[in-house]
Amino acid sequence: MNNATADSANLPTFRTAVGPEDRQVVRTIVASTGFFNPAEIDIAVELVEEHLAKGAEQSGYYFVFAECDARTVGYSCYGPIAGTQQSHDLFWIAVDRSHQAAGIGRRLLIETERRIYQCGGRRVYVETSSRDQYLPTRTFYERCGYHREAILEDFYAPGDGKVIYVRALESEEFQQEPIPEPHEGKGTGTFCSEDSAK
Ligand SMILES: CC(C)(COP(=O)(O)OP(=O)(O)OC[C@H]1O[C@@H](n2cnc3c(N)ncnc32)[C@H](O)[C@@H]1OP(=O)(O)O)[C@@H](O)C(=O)NCCC(=O)NCCS
Repeated sequence: MNNATADSANLPTFRTAVGPEDRQVVRTIVASTGFFNPAEIDIAVELVEEHLAKGAEQSGYYFVFAECDARTVGYSCYGPIAGTQQSHDLFWIAVDRSHQAAGIGRRLLIETERRIYQCGGRRVYVETSSRDQYLPTRTFYERCGYHREAILEDFYAPGDGKVIYVRALESEEFQQEPIPEPHEGKGTGTFCSEDSAK
């Protein structure tokens, strides 16, 4: 059941600094969704570890964490696609099951897109499965303005294709509001710098 509400009292705040505790934070959030198997959960945590070990730029993994009432309830992981000028991958986005369907995922995605835009990114790509289990995920991306660009049939397994979504980031969307200041005491990580790894 969803406990969260979308009223202003529950609007998330965001941070980009990543700490060792975020290994467990990510594990808890991803596991709570019930969407991912143990191997996939381990991969989600490995991206945090890569970031902690190498920093954002070297690892290629950047994070935005969404917090409600001082608790981290969702996160995204993304990064520039090597060999492209302006394209970025959204590797992961998840909201704790107890806080889903309250608008946090959409806000988290907008915040992620804003950070990508402000560092020169203009296209965001995300991949998901064509299986029925991922219909809610595909609906989420479509509701958030993502366009189904391609389907690679039988990519993951027979009957399990890869669906590639893309969103072109337009300037008008991102020039209106500045990125909110990061939380006090949570570091000053920004998408463009290595700060988030400190
Ligand atoms: C996908 C996910 C991140 C969405 O986060 P959320 O906070 O629940 O989503 P929001 O409440 O912000 O919803 C945003 C939009 O997506 C739609 N949406 C979200 N979840 C949906 C679902 N299960 N079924 C249908 N639509 C859904 C909402 O209706 C909303 O659209 P609207 O505002 O036009 O009505 C979250 O449900 C999740 O973590 N899912 C499991 C992990 C996952 O699939 N991650 C993506 C692949 S890595």
